[in-house]
Amino acid sequence: DNTTYLFRVLPSGHLEHLYYGRRLPVAQERDIAPLCQQRAFGPGYTVTYSPEHDVYLEDTCLEISSLGKGDIREPFAEIVRADGSRTADFTFVSAQIDSEAPDMDGLPSSYTEGETEHLRVTLRDGDLTLELDYLVYAQCDAITRSARLVNFSDKDVRVRRLMSMQLDLPDSGWAVTTFHGAWAREMGKHTITLTGGKTVTESRAGITSSRANPFFMVHSPAAGEDAGDVYGFNLFYSGDHYEAAEVSAFGKTRIVAGINPTGFEYLLAPGESFRAPEAVMTYSPAGFTGQSVNMHRFVREHVVRGEWKKKVRPVLLNSWEAAYFKINESTLVSLARAAKDVGVELFVMDDGWFGDRNDDTHGLGDWDPNPKKLPGGLKGLCDRINALGLDFGIWVEPEMVNVKSRLYEAHPDWAMAIPGRSHSEGRNQRILDLANPDVTDYLIEKMTEVFSSANIVYVKWDFNRMFSDMYSPSLPPERQGEAGYRYMKGLYRLMGELVSRFPRVLFEGCAGGGSRFDLGILSYFPQIWASDDTDAQVRVNVQESYSFGYPQSVVSAHVSACPNHQTLRDVPLETRFNVAAFGLLGYELDLRDLTSLELSDVKEQILLYKVYRNTLQFGQFYRGQTGNIHQWTCVSPDRSEALGMMMQELVRPNTQTHRFYPKGLDENAVYRFANEERQVDVRRFGSLVNTMAPIHVRPGSLIHNAIARVYKMPGERDDFFAPGAVLMHGGVSLKQAFSGTGYSDQVRFFSDFSSRLYYIEKAGE
Ligand code: DGJ
Repeated sequence: DNTTYLFRVLPSGHLEHLYYGRRLPVAQERDIAPLCQQRAFGPGYTVTYSPEHDVYLEDTCLEISSLGKGDIREPFAEIVRADGSRTADFTFVSAQIDSEAPDMDGLPSSYTEGETEHLRVTLRDGDLTLELDYLVYAQCDAITRSARLVNFSDKDVRVRRLMSMQLDLPDSGWAVTTFHGAWAREMGKHTITLTGGKTVTESRAGITSSRANPFFMVHSPAAGEDAGDVYGFNLFYSGDHYEAAEVSAFGKTRIVAGINPTGFEYLLAPGESFRAPEAVMTYSPAGFTGQSVNMHRFVREHVVRGEWKKKVRPVLLNSWEAAYFKINESTLVSLARAAKDVGVELFVMDDGWFGDRNDDTHGLGDWDPNPKKLPGGLKGLCDRINALGLDFGIWVEPEMVNVKSRLYEAHPDWAMAIPGRSHSEGRNQRILDLANPDVTDYLIEKMTEVFSSANIVYVKWDFNRMFSDMYSPSLPPERQGEAGYRYMKGLYRLMGELVSRFPRVLFEGCAGGGSRFDLGILSYFPQIWASDDTDAQVRVNVQESYSFGYPQSVVSAHVSACPNHQTLRDVPLETRFNVAAFGLLGYELDLRDLTSLELSDVKEQILLYKVYRNTLQFGQFYRGQTGNIHQWTCVSPDRSEALGMMMQELVRPNTQTHRFYPKGLDENAVYRFANEERQVDVRRFGSLVNTMAPIHVRPGSLIHNAIARVYKMPGERDDFFAPGAVLMHGGVSLKQAFSGTGYSDQVRFFSDFSSRLYYIEKAGE
């Protein structure tokens, strides 16, 4: 609705990219004339395309590059012909606009419930045809691209690279923001300004990986949350990906994204075709927030599908950090009982319930309940959980096998490994060969048996290692470069089939946390476990980073015990909840260990979450201030209510003033902005209690605890009625933060990792 994307066919048949940015009023050819590159003489030391066509491909913005004809920048395609030549020169044949979605050949793709708007441009290089597919999602200001190569020759060709998208911008000096991390600290945000050379983000882990998410942004260096040109890009693929931004010798910027060419090669026999995954791009002149709003809407409307697309997600309790592998029916039922008491709706049994699974060395692949732990099987346990009034869900990791398993004994050739060479494992496990259709078929049937063996309404689908020694025993040597791609197609068939056999089941993707957080997985599973790190101080950053490219309705987030199991850090329960509530809320701890006060806090948290769940899950999420102080707002679609969250990482002494800036409100409507009446445990002030106590109180002593039971310190309350514009643009000046000079109900207790929720309700026009 608000963007224009323009390209034209040059007399040479190449596609000159002309413009991508804010909407232009172009009605006729003359209007685009100023955008077309002008040239009288070629640049020195470059290649002229042909005697007839004075085109210098190296210095032309192109829809796709033609390697070997003078364009020496990042190529779109690299193809080896039967004669060994590597030059590709695709020129225009035809273009057609229709409402047919392209056939993605088993790869995931975007979709619409309205009318599809599709452009196909067909290019040809000899007897190879390259189709460029564009889909338009006007309301999200999003365009998707993908490509298909068809071999009409009578000889094999080898595809060494086929990107999904390319965008050439006519200038340089753009900033590139990418997201890198590791297990338990996914999505670290990194920005560089590119004035020369190239920056590459990629995964060679065989999966999306926590090392580099395929979502990235290219933006003006001055872009901020609310203003500035920002382009966002993402890929519908869960394997090795590659994103590059390169500044050419002539100061133009090329951006490409697609399957990582490293380790990839696809043999295209006569008559065969190869489909590159779909990529999405969006543009906003309204800064990172504008870009995020587009991407969130695109993911909510055109990626996530099925029964759970708009259905509120249940509050769950997961057994992993509560009991790890030490589970059995009675422990699980007792955990579930405690969960029911605080208002949890779904009980999830994590790893450890099947085969000979008492640690991570055994049992993967043997998907039959362990009779010692679950004497009544899945059904026996599920019935008992259901009888408590809770739904029941399970954990599986279908793509994996331990060598110490019955499955491996029966089918050693079903695991990916190079015959005759030692295999390097991750978490003591191997990856099943989903490039082999027999393995995929087996998993479809085995998982169907498991999912139908009890009233299972939720499945957490894990994947706990990256690839090594990539080799599919089912493929011939000349097709080993296809193993990763064929694996992904097997995975998509497996997920697609199970999702359609079990449309009511809520599937959650997981890969040791967020190692497979991408649009490919989200095309099947409506939510993903974002990180194994449940420490709210880490999570606030991880979730904030995901929010640049993904809506909170796909991000699962849990409250866990403290000291935290990944960092040993202590964060107040209130903050653990406040951060997790801006995602899909769950609990992952042994509730039986909580004090009665903590249990009643958890009960209240869940009650509150249920009241605001629609807004928290499906409202529009906005980032405000980021850094040491994080400010988030979630606004309901009709903007009648919103929730604000402010969290501080570390106290900066003597900073009394903070302003909260909500976002996304109706400028003219009057809102009530308030936080909850609160009280503070006197023990949180430590020995300062002695500034008031008539006798000396030793911190942590019996008397200190007794005082805490009967006496609560008053908490601050902010409460305003004001127009949305005042709140958003002026900000709300909050009660002063504690700064070591005094405390009363006019002071905000705001220590390390403190946070507040603000309720913002429309009170009139
Ligand atoms: C990794 C997951 O991310 C955890 O949440 C948990 O399910 C474990 N695997 C179980 O092995």
